[in-house]
Order: sequence, then C-alpha cells, then structure tokens
Amino acid sequence: MADARVHIDLRDLQGDILRAYGNDYDHTSYAFVKITCPPEQARAWFSGLLDHVTTAEPWKDGKPVTTLNVAVTAAGLKALGVSDEVVASFSAEFREGMSSRAERLGDTGVSDPGAWERGLGDGSAHVLLTINAQEAEDHRRALGLMRAAMDDAGGLEIVFQQDTALLTGAREHFGYADGFAQPAVQGASDDKAPGGGVPEEDGRWRALAPGEFVLGYPDEDTRDDPKRTLPNAPADPLGKSGTYMVWRKLYQDVALWRRVMADAAELYQAGDEHKLAAKVVGRWTDGTPLVTHPDKPDPDFDATARGANDFRYSSDSDGMRCPLGSHIRRSNPRDALGFQGALTFRHRMIRRGMPYGDPLPDGKPDDRADRGLVFVSFQASISRQFEAVQMQWLNDGNIFGLGHDKDFLLGDPEGTGKMTIQGRPPFFLAPMEAVVKTRGGEYLFVPGVSALAAIADGTTG
Ligand code: HEM
Repeated sequence: MADARVHIDLRDLQGDILRAYGNDYDHTSYAFVKITCPPEQARAWFSGLLDHVTTAEPWKDGKPVTTLNVAVTAAGLKALGVSDEVVASFSAEFREGMSSRAERLGDTGVSDPGAWERGLGDGSAHVLLTINAQEAEDHRRALGLMRAAMDDAGGLEIVFQQDTALLTGAREHFGYADGFAQPAVQGASDDKAPGGGVPEEDGRWRALAPGEFVLGYPDEDTRDDPKRTLPNAPADPLGKSGTYMVWRKLYQDVALWRRVMADAAELYQAGDEHKLAAKVVGRWTDGTPLVTHPDKPDPDFDATARGANDFRYSSDSDGMRCPLGSHIRRSNPRDALGFQGALTFRHRMIRRGMPYGDPLPDGKPDDRADRGLVFVSFQASISRQFEAVQMQWLNDGNIFGLGHDKDFLLGDPEGTGKMTIQGRPPFFLAPMEAVVKTRGGEYLFVPGVSALAAIADGTTG
C-alpha cells in the first residue's frame, strides 16, 4: 500500500526500479551499445526506443511479454549530444566511471579493470538496453528487433552483451535464495516497512523517503522540511525521475566455493556444512534469517511473505546467532550500529541482480564455465550508497569491530579475505583464493521518461 501523502509520478519513472518486474521474467539481456555516429543520427535511433520503454505505471492488461529499459553512461550522454555543462551537473563518481574507482571498490588483483572483459570499463559503453522476457521465444524476438533497429540506424555497435536467466528457486550460484530483502519506499512500498524500512526506537519501522532512490523527490535529509532544496540531481530536465544504476558482472567460482566450505566444515561443529554456509550469509540457504532461527531453517519460511525480513540485530549484539561479519549483516546492519539505525539508513540500495551462466550440478567437477551474478543496484547517490557499502561494510571490518575481516561470501581478489564466526569458541574461516571476481562494470544513469524524450530531442540545454 502506498503512502497517499507522497505522490510518485510513475508514468515518468522507468520500470523495475521501485517495483520489481518479478520472477515471471526469467530471461534478461543487458546490451551495451557504443555510438560511433554523429549525435543527431544517434538521437534518431534513441528517439525510436522511446515508445517501447517500460515505465513504472501499473500494468492494466497483465504483464507484457517483454520489457525494455534504457540507461546511459557519462560518455553516452556526450555521444548523444548532451552539453559538457549539463554532464558536469551529474555526480563526480558517475562522470569518472566505475573502472576509475577500482582502488576504492577493491577491484584489484584478479578483479583489476585491466583484466575486465572488452567493452566494459574502457569508455566504449554508451547506452545500456535491458530486455526482460517471460519466454525464450519472446526474448529472441526482442533481441532481433533491437539489433534490426540498430542496423537501420547505422553507427551503433554492441560492445558487450550479457544474457542471464533465473536459476530454479530464484537462487544464486552458491545456492542461496537471493534478491528478496529490499528497501521499503514511502509512496511505493510502505507495506514492506517492517524489515525493509528504518528501525525506530518504539519497535516500529518506517519506509524510506523516495529521494533515496529516485532523484527529484525529498530524501531522508529533506523529508520533514519541504521548503529545503531538493537533493542534488542533474540539471533540469534530466534530474526529474532519474536514478543512478550500478552494473557489475561478478564471476563466481562455484567449485572453489564448495571445496572451501566442505574443507572448513570438517572442523566446524561436527561437520555441519549447512550451518557454516548459513553463518557466512546470515541466512539459511532457503532465506530463513539466522538471527531469528539460529539452529535450523524455518520449514514455513516464505521469502515473499510480509514480515520475511522483519528482524533486528540488537538482541544479538555479540553475533552469537548471526555473525557480525555475515553478508546480510554487513550489507544492511539495520540497528546493529546503534542509534536506531541512524548510521545505516542512508546507505540502502534497491537490488535487481540476475544470475548468469548454467549452474554447476552438485557433485560435478569444476567445468571452468563462466557463471556468476550480474549485480544491479539503483540509488540516488552511488558514492553514499553503493560505494560506501562496498568499501566500508563489505571490504572492511573496522566498523563492526572485526579488524581486517572481509565479507567471506565475496572473498577478496588478493586472497586475503577471512571471517570470524562468533561462538564459544569462535571459529575462523581462513583466507581463500578469490571466490568472486569482478569481470567488468559500469556506472549508469537511468533517465525518467520526460528526460529520455529531452535527450532524444536534443533539448537538454
Ligand atoms: C556474487 C556476489 C553476491 C552474492 C552471491 C550475494 C548474495 C546475497 C544473498 C544470498 C543475500 C540474501 C538474500 C536477500 O537478502 O535478498 C544478499 C543480500 C544482500 N546483498 Fe548480496 N550478494 C552478492 C554481492 C553483493 C554486493 C556487491 C552488494 C553491495 C555492494 C550486496 C548487497 C546486498 C544487500 C544490501 C543485501 C540485503 C541485506 C538486507 O537488507 O538484509 N551483495 N546477497
């Protein structure tokens, strides 16, 4: 249910941001397009996309068989003829691009941009087209139409394409249910506030201000004072209903992961590998939170149910139930850092990732196939939200009193990531080789619908 006091213009917002398209769309392609023609020619092609863009408006006649969404890099804005002055009004990290921020993101060693796949992080990706489809046949048809429109326009080249498909049970490749804990947004998903919003002192939760995720709306800093200037957004008309998008191709070494976990479990609580895996993420593989069910998963747990994410960490301040350094406690510490969540609620992000590659069947030897997660997040500020979480919470242990520990699920490209599992006695997961490697990524801007039209018309100022 939406908060009637906040009106979000859903016709102007692209789809899959505040409300997920959902798991009916199990085929997704991300096509990064390079513009090699003059801006006017590129804008004619861009303009042809507009009628097909899927907005956030509720669907009247059921879900469309395919969806299309459009995002641009800073280089893409320039290639489409947006002036340097307007591009300068975008955030610094967006303009610099993900590969320039590699050091701070921990993209070093095997994850260094020098080893990224061609077309990502080298300035050639200009426009990202995301196509979702319910059926393989519709997926193929939509990709064909996309390519035909590009061929007709000329001067356009797909420099990188990643096709993805959901795995059975909406799992990621290491075997955990993924993607269901999301921020609750005022005016869009207020009913998800318990567990998705900001934990308040009286035990209640409140949804986050929409400006944390969509530009042009009040955010957590300005929500109670409408007279205050709205948070920084690029110059009009681009700022309205836009958001920043982080796109990362994260390779997962499933065989290595299984080996590390099996070896470590031999020394852990009578070989309880299932429990050790739960300790690393903070949830059992079916999604049951450890903080509420520390000994075994809840057979009735339903990740889609209201309240599936309704838990806090204050009753487990020593991490005996859910380790202080588990993936979900690091990536959203809720009330774990004290001050009623005041240190955490400005670092939330909406995640819309998809697994790519075929699963490695249980018990099968390493086939060295390319598989992993396309990590996608939407947020109003890449530096305050995505980068802060990646740098300070996942890649570092200081704020949680964990010294040099890192998120063990993501490992460390230099092979130095280790983890402490609180207990009597505590258990230590030793550093392992990089289990997740960054294969490439981009920082993008997802314009609102009127902003897309302004780019297409060349009226961005
Ligand atoms: C291969 C890489 C990754 C894997 C396999 C992975 C897996 C998971 C899983 C299994 C969950 C629990 C299910 C859920 O809450 O939806 C989760 C939650 C989450 N992850 Fe990741 N993740 C990965 C990378 C990342 C990265 C790079 C970030 C951020 C920089 C991130 C941020 C989050 C957040 C914010 C949550 C929700 C926590 C909550 O609200 O309780 N993850 N992830």
